[in-house]
Amino acid sequence: MTESTAKTNETVAPSEGFVAQARVASKEAYEALWRQSIEDPTTFWQEQTKDLVFRTPWTAFSDGVPPYSEGEIPGPDGAAPMTFFPGATLNLTESCLDRHLTTPARTRAALIFEGEPGDTRTLTYFELHRETVRLAAALADLGVQAGDRVAIYMGMVPEAAIAMLACARLGATHTVVFGGFSSDALRDRINDCGAKVLLTQDGAWRRGHAVPLKDMADTALLETPTIEKVVVLARIGAERCHSHLKPGRDIDWHDLVSRVPSPKSIERAIRPAAFDAEHPLFVLYTSGSTGKPKGVLHTTAGYLAGVHVTSKYVFDLREGDLYFCTADVGWITGHSYLVYGPLSCGASILLYEGAPNFPDWGRFWSVIERHGVSILYTAPTAIRAFMRQGEEWPNRYDLSSLRLLGSVGEPINPEAWLWYHRTIGAERCPIVDTWWQTETGSIMLTTLPGAVAAKPGATGLPLFGVEMTIADDEGALHDRGAANGKLVIKRPWPSMARTLWNDNVRYGETYWKAIPGRYFTGDGARRDEDGYFWVTGRIDDVLNVSGHRIGTAEIESALVSHSAVAEAAAVGRPDEMKGQALVVFVTLKEGKQAGPVLKNELAAHIDREIGKFARPDEIRFTDALPKTRSGKIMRRLLKDVAAGTVRANQDTSTLEDLGVLAKLQAED
Ligand code: WTA
Repeated sequence: MTESTAKTNETVAPSEGFVAQARVASKEAYEALWRQSIEDPTTFWQEQTKDLVFRTPWTAFSDGVPPYSEGEIPGPDGAAPMTFFPGATLNLTESCLDRHLTTPARTRAALIFEGEPGDTRTLTYFELHRETVRLAAALADLGVQAGDRVAIYMGMVPEAAIAMLACARLGATHTVVFGGFSSDALRDRINDCGAKVLLTQDGAWRRGHAVPLKDMADTALLETPTIEKVVVLARIGAERCHSHLKPGRDIDWHDLVSRVPSPKSIERAIRPAAFDAEHPLFVLYTSGSTGKPKGVLHTTAGYLAGVHVTSKYVFDLREGDLYFCTADVGWITGHSYLVYGPLSCGASILLYEGAPNFPDWGRFWSVIERHGVSILYTAPTAIRAFMRQGEEWPNRYDLSSLRLLGSVGEPINPEAWLWYHRTIGAERCPIVDTWWQTETGSIMLTTLPGAVAAKPGATGLPLFGVEMTIADDEGALHDRGAANGKLVIKRPWPSMARTLWNDNVRYGETYWKAIPGRYFTGDGARRDEDGYFWVTGRIDDVLNVSGHRIGTAEIESALVSHSAVAEAAAVGRPDEMKGQALVVFVTLKEGKQAGPVLKNELAAHIDREIGKFARPDEIRFTDALPKTRSGKIMRRLLKDVAAGTVRANQDTSTLEDLGVLAKLQAED
């Protein structure tokens, strides 16, 4: 986003038609509900969670510690500062599945699947429940118990959602690893959380090619001592899948679920156990500014409450809606707003397997037309890519079933916002730009549709139970009127991450120490005179490339693990399409030759270490990295070089000389 466009202050009011049926139909009504959520959270959450199924109902909203006084750091060793809905017990899947079996939702589509080759499949709530129960019983027979970790390495197929739900039903903690991650990345995640079982598939369709998930899993499995069983879904071809099963370890998914389970396992799956409100639901790995990926842990009741309430209000989900979230199940958006949130509301979800532009740029619009999608939730990168292809593509399709549009993952520039509004939403559909993170579990900032006007480029106002503010360089908090600063959440909220897997200390240090006792998001933002937040992007060493979160430290450590590389620095460069592009500066070991061959080799090395989605956009060789006198890499300078605002000397041997620049900077 450029500075000039970021400051537009145009407001776009929701259409009258939308306001007439809105759950919250005015700014005053939103403010009253928000105030209640802060001042009387018990009453607010009692009312808002009344549709959810608790075995032991909760009486207190939280264990009652915060808000913290300045300077107080929460939790022993930095672990979860508080618990929510203490004393409650529940099986989360009863809210997502069982409760709909006694309503008309029973025979309604829970999930409509469209495969990339064009195959479609519909599962009603009855069928999704049945499939979940079957898989849960089968997993129980494999020895999966409450508290065990189960890894899921799959593409966008209904079984991925079924796998998550089956784990939750048993109280097993799932860790979904995005199918774009390499075998090394999968191995590290399995080993970090000690998963016992892996659920995967032979391959996933992507742009007409099969992504060989099982082959990659096999490589990972060479070094994952905790995995006992692997369940493999035949998606690409049953024959190929069967021939690749390792006897004693691998089991075909369909064989597994068609066996008759033991009576005990059937019992456990049909009448599942209830778990404590704080029972670990899932671990999802995400990138941080330092070190290895962080295993963000979410627990049961607070997470469910957060995704339920936000799905209901932000997406205005109602009976008869068909909701299309384009995020992959491997990311938090897929967890919260493809699976758990919408199902807890009894909505019908559309799950699409492939790429947005396969076989052509009309794919999304054709899906919307054919299935009658009413709500679309996607990322600015996709919107910008569609915009570049021109209106002809969407204009060929009937998009009149749409009534609400959402955006997530990165700042949306006003041009893309306006295009989305006009071309896709026909100026009829409100747009909810939703700001949140893996760690927040659910949406924190948006403009509630029908209640408040949107401002293209601004994410909007805090949601229920959320108090956001801006911290200045000294750490002072400014609720209003501050310039750009750090985006901070003032007090804990039910769906927040409780810790990082096996690393309470890192959790406390990463989130609660920069502004002591408050949650620091890692993002920069300002708040305007109307109270709207304008998020500018990450201000730590995390990049956001096409909506993917990438840690510079991960890229750098992957690069230095290559035998030719001495040192590496990764930075972001503003990019019109991707938001940020990934640029890496590399110095080589003695005798290693810079050039196109090595560039390709390093790109392939990143594919192997992390995944293709993390491939640098640019690899630049330099004779030395510019450093301060104390030896710190001058990232600011490298960002300027990457952005082209200052130029390095480029000598004939293709090595850049950044030393001169470093000297100039040091003299400033
Ligand atoms: C960025 C994705 C601006 C932000 C749900 C955040 C956004 C990071 C928005 C989290 C938005 C997400 N406007 N920036 N609407 N939504 N971000 O964990 O930098 O993959 O910190 O969660 O994405 O990425 P994550």
